[in-house]
This record gives sequence, structure tokens and C-alpha cells, in this order.
Amino acid sequence: QSNFNQKIDYVFKVVLIGDSAVGKSQLLARFSRNEFSIESKATIGVEFQTRTLEIDHKTIKAQIWDTAGQERYRAVTSAYYRGAVGAMLVYDITKRQSFDHVARWLEELRGHADKNIALMLIGNKTDLGSLRAVTTEDAKEFAQRENLFFMETSALDSNNVEPSFLTVLTEIY
Ligand code: GTP
Ligand code: MG
Repeated sequence: QSNFNQKIDYVFKVVLIGDSAVGKSQLLARFSRNEFSIESKATIGVEFQTRTLEIDHKTIKAQIWDTAGQERYRAVTSAYYRGAVGAMLVYDITKRQSFDHVARWLEELRGHADKNIALMLIGNKTDLGSLRAVTTEDAKEFAQRENLFFMETSALDSNNVEPSFLTVLTEIY
């Protein structure tokens, strides 16, 4: 995308969190570059990608931050959350444990992020429906209880990737 001379109205920092291998980096690759890799390596430290888009006639630069799900590779927690106005908490619909850990991620987030942060729960890998280990209903209920937006996505086949990021960005805006 070449945005030469484009006037940016807002820059929004959004953070991705969740267990290792749930697909955070590939959701970001899909959203920012429309790419996907099955050989994605575990993230070490912090990376970010930006994408500039129009919402409501405003030019918004989404700066999406991605860190490691693995404790030993993670960035400094407080720095990661600093200034974030949106967060996407990702689990893998085929890995029950990644859903069971969502409460822990929420706790960390609520301890470090702004209390008005726009929060979205994402059940990723819907393309692997035959291996599903978390029902949509369970996740929906949890999200309602915790006051989170909720969507199921697939970074592999693009299902709901665009709508999920747009929901968070629109909510911030
Ligand atoms: P960490 O960086 O370790 O925290 O992991 P991550 O959450 O960034 O996971 P990553 O995006 O690297 O994806 C892990 C594996 O899952 C890779 O093999 C991806 O190709 C695969 N993957 C990611 N999203 C999907 C998806 O929607 N469907 C399928 N089938 N595989 C996916
Ligand atoms: Mg990663």
C-alpha cells in the first residue's frame, strides 16, 4: 500500500494476545498484507504491522502489535500494553487449553491496559471445523459475561478476519 502524502486522522494501537500457536501472527499477516503461511515461526519479542484504512470518512492508521504467546519470548508486559486502545484475545477453536487460558490473558490485560480498551475475543482456525474442541456457544457465553466482542475467524481462508479487525477499530473510533 503506498499512502504517499496521505493525511492520517488517527493512529490506533491494537495488541494481539493469546497462547502460542493460536494464529496471532497469521491473523496479522492476513489483515495487513493478505498473506498466510502454514510454516509460521513462533514470535520472539514484539513485531508490528500497520494498515491504513478509511472508517467513517476518516483515515485511520491501525498499528497492530504482536508478541509471543510463549512466556520466555514475551516482550515487557507493561510496555506492550502501553497506549493500546484495542485488544484481540485469540484462542484456537481446536485447542481447548487455549480457550481455558483466556481468563488468565484477560486478567493480565485488565491489570495493564486502559480500562476503556476495546476488547475482542477471537476463536481462530474455523477451517479446521472437524477438529473443533470449543463450541461457539461456550465462547459466546463467556464473551457476554466478560463484556467482550466475539467472532470466529480463519487466517487460512480469511473467514471473518477483516470484520473482526474492523469491529475493534470501529469500536475505538
Ligand atoms: P506465537 O507467536 O508463538 O505466540 O504463536 P501465534 O499465535 O503467532 O501463531 P502463528 O500465527 O504463528 O500460527 C501457528 C500455526 O498455526 C502456524 O502453523 C499457522 O500456519 C497456523 N495457523 C494460524 N492461523 C490458522 C488458521 O486460521 N487455520 C489453520 N488451519 N492454521 C492456522
Ligand atoms: Mg506469533
